[in-house]
Amino acid sequence: MRIDIITLHPKLLKSPFEHSILHRAINKKIVEIKIHDIRSYSKDKHKKVDDYQFGGGAGMVMCIQPIADCIDKLKSERNYDAIIYLTPDGKQLKQSVANHYSTFKNIILLCGHYKGIDQRIRDNYITDELSIGDYVLTGGELAAAVVCDSIIRLIPGVISDETSALTDSFQDNLLAPPVYTRPATYKNWKVPEILLSGNFKKIEEWRNKEAIKRTKKRRPDLLDE
Ligand code: ADE
Repeated sequence: MRIDIITLHPKLLKSPFEHSILHRAINKKIVEIKIHDIRSYSKDKHKKVDDYQFGGGAGMVMCIQPIADCIDKLKSERNYDAIIYLTPDGKQLKQSVANHYSTFKNIILLCGHYKGIDQRIRDNYITDELSIGDYVLTGGELAAAVVCDSIIRLIPGVISDETSALTDSFQDNLLAPPVYTRPATYKNWKVPEILLSGNFKKIEEWRNKEAIKRTKKRRPDLLDE
C-alpha cells in the first residue's frame, strides 16, 4: 500500500513512522509513506499558501492552487482508490472504516489548517472526508497519523500474529476482555483462575463473557450497532 500525505507541516509527520510497528511495516516494504510539503507547490513569489476568506470573517483559508497542483501531479503518476481530507466535519473514523481502507492500494491524505481549505478542492478532488472525533485539532496532521496507524496495522504481514488484529476492541462491536501476564499473584492480587486452567474452550467462553460485560457497562451503544 502507498499513502501520500499532503501537509503544510511535514516534520510533524516524521516521528509516527519512525518507530515500532509502523516503522517495521515501512522497512518490510509492506507500506510506503510519502510526505508532500504544500508550500513547495505554491506559485506565489512569497510561497504563500493561505489567504483571507471571501465575504470576510476571521481566519485564513488554504489556497486552491498549491493543493490542486500537488494532487494533479500525484494523480498523473498513479490511480488513487481514495483522496481523503482530514476535517472535524468529516465522517467519523471507526474500526470498520479502517478495515475498509486497509484493503486499498493507493490513498492520498490531505491535512487542513486554519479555517480549512477552499471548498472547490473538496468539491472537485476529495472522495472521502474523515474526522477522528468530535473535537477540533490545530490541523489534520495528527489525525492523518491516527488514520495511518489504524489502517497499516491491519495489512497482512504488519502484525506478526495476524489474529491479534482481529481480536482488537471494536472488531466485532465488542470491547476487548481484560488481559493478564506473569506473575499470577502480585500483592495478593490474583489472576482469574480460569486463565491458568489450560482449558482453551472455557477460556474463550470466559473472554467472550467478559467482553460483553465490559461493553454493556462502558459502551452500550456498540451493542445496538
Ligand atoms: N482537523 C482538525 N480537527 C480534526 C479532527 N477532529 N479530525 C480530523 N481532522 C481534523
